[in-house]
Amino acid sequence: MIMKGNNAGILGTGFYVPEKVLTNFDLEKIVDTNDAWIVERTGIRERHIAPDDVPVSELAYQAALKALADAGTDPDELDLILVATLTSDYIVPATACLLQDRLGAHHAAAFDLVAACSGFVYASAVAAQFIGSGIYKKILVIGAETLSKYVDWEDRNTCVLFGDGAGAAVYGPVEPEHGMLGFDLGSDGSGADYLGIPSSGSKHPVDEKMIAQKMNRIHMNGKEVFKFAVRVMGATVQRSLANAGLEKGAIDWLVPHQANIRIIESAAKRLAMPLEKVIINIEKYGNVSAASIPIALAEAAGAGRFKRGDIVALAGFGAGLTWASCILRWAKEDS
Ligand code: UT7
Repeated sequence: MIMKGNNAGILGTGFYVPEKVLTNFDLEKIVDTNDAWIVERTGIRERHIAPDDVPVSELAYQAALKALADAGTDPDELDLILVATLTSDYIVPATACLLQDRLGAHHAAAFDLVAACSGFVYASAVAAQFIGSGIYKKILVIGAETLSKYVDWEDRNTCVLFGDGAGAAVYGPVEPEHGMLGFDLGSDGSGADYLGIPSSGSKHPVDEKMIAQKMNRIHMNGKEVFKFAVRVMGATVQRSLANAGLEKGAIDWLVPHQANIRIIESAAKRLAMPLEKVIINIEKYGNVSAASIPIALAEAAGAGRFKRGDIVALAGFGAGLTWASCILRWAKEDS
């Protein structure tokens, strides 16, 4: 979609990962796997894992505090809090409401959004509409996950992939030609069975039978998700670029969903981008689903990699199946 009205840009970012690190070598002791396979097939070396008694709202809260400080925004200024997660504290109430209270964001509406690993970009596009229309001024967008709580630690096909963490961004109005210039959101529900938690809602309520069959754990057809990702990642960015009225060569930085280094490399190739222009941190955090793009974004921003005026593309894919990308002209002053 081409953006109309006020321009919505990122005013500040922050991320948080739990302290505990689980390395590939640690995993070798748990399942029949090895560091060489995991590094070669995924690019992951370690991931962070939240303690059993730490919910996703805690990770989201810590990331939010950093993003608000970076943006110089008081929680009272927030009009809306959007949390993209598939591992919310509860089915209801929304994790965003818990944060609204904890942050003291007294004037903020709050809701959660489920678009799996594409969630942060979906939520960013939603935020841009509210700011674009002039209805809201300051919106906190968070991607946060505690996937470790849903992983089957006996399934080497999935347990080596995922990690926990949260990333956040404060969106607000920025000067013309800056902020979100275009985006592309999509879904293909015919692939819904390829990735999910079968017993997690009203279709197969969690009971003893479901737990015995591990239906309350992440199930994935890795090969199908891989093929889908390779197909959509480059294509969605190209559509976002076209919506923004820009050419392929215009991108200064690509911030992709960190699911597999081979998927990232394939997207970069399709976009004719050298890997030096691609933000990659998968080796340290694994796949953090909705948190992976905002963690990469916040880490790169914090390291001063983006200069004001740079074109930054965010691109993700995930369960649903879903995909999402957007093009931002970096509006924040260099730190
Ligand atoms: O956010 C979106 C979430 N999901 C994704 O993005 C996942 C996308 N898919 C992938 O990243 C890849 O498909 C995987 C990393 C999940 C798997 O890589 P692959 O190259 O597609 O491996 P494979 O499933 O074809 O398995 C190849 C072999 C198999 O052994 P055999 O049957 O050839 O003897 C697997 O059993 O590798 C074996 N294998 C492992 N070996 C050691 C699978 N997992 C492991 C493991 N350690 N952890």
